[in-house]
Amino acid sequence: MTDVSTVHEVPIRGEVDIVHVRQAAREVAVSVGFSLVEQTKLVTAASELARNTLKHGGGGVAEVELERGSGHTALRLVFRDEGPGIEDVDLALTDGYSSAGGLGLGLSGARRLADDFELRTEPGQGTTVTVSFRSRTGPR
Ligand SMILES: Nc1ncnc2c1ncn2[C@@H]1O[C@H](COP(=O)(O)OP(=O)(O)O)[C@@H](O)[C@H]1O
Ligand SMILES: [Mg+2]
Repeated sequence: MTDVSTVHEVPIRGEVDIVHVRQAAREVAVSVGFSLVEQTKLVTAASELARNTLKHGGGGVAEVELERGSGHTALRLVFRDEGPGIEDVDLALTDGYSSAGGLGLGLSGARRLADDFELRTEPGQGTTVTVSFRSRTGPR
């Protein structure tokens, strides 16, 4: 049996909300015993994806979810917007590609940091990016 619960839902409307997303992600990671290295990976990915939601998606929402099964705990971050969507997903995931004069390392970097990565997008409809991190230290 796997139990999934949403622990935080953070609106992303401005710069300060990126800080709120980082804090929410770290708080949950600490509460389930993620190591400092795991926390850092997760918060880095959260930061990049929250920034994309704001900058490219025109704002949206982040959810911090916990998935608890027998013998595993995973923290899942879901970023959702109703912005322009992504026309070419492979291109968007290429290191160094940015449509907006950025470094182009956020999306690809988040994918590398996460244990699971899912991107759903529809041009003109929006984008949802989901990243999961499994705890290697085990639940407390
Ligand atoms: N939520 C989003 N909505 C629309 N486009 C996005 C979104 N997230 C990422 N992208 C597209 O993917 C590209 C690569 O993202 P990223 O690697 O974070 O680079 P950067 O943010 O520096 O431009 C962005 O330049 C943008 O074109
Ligand atoms: Mg980015």
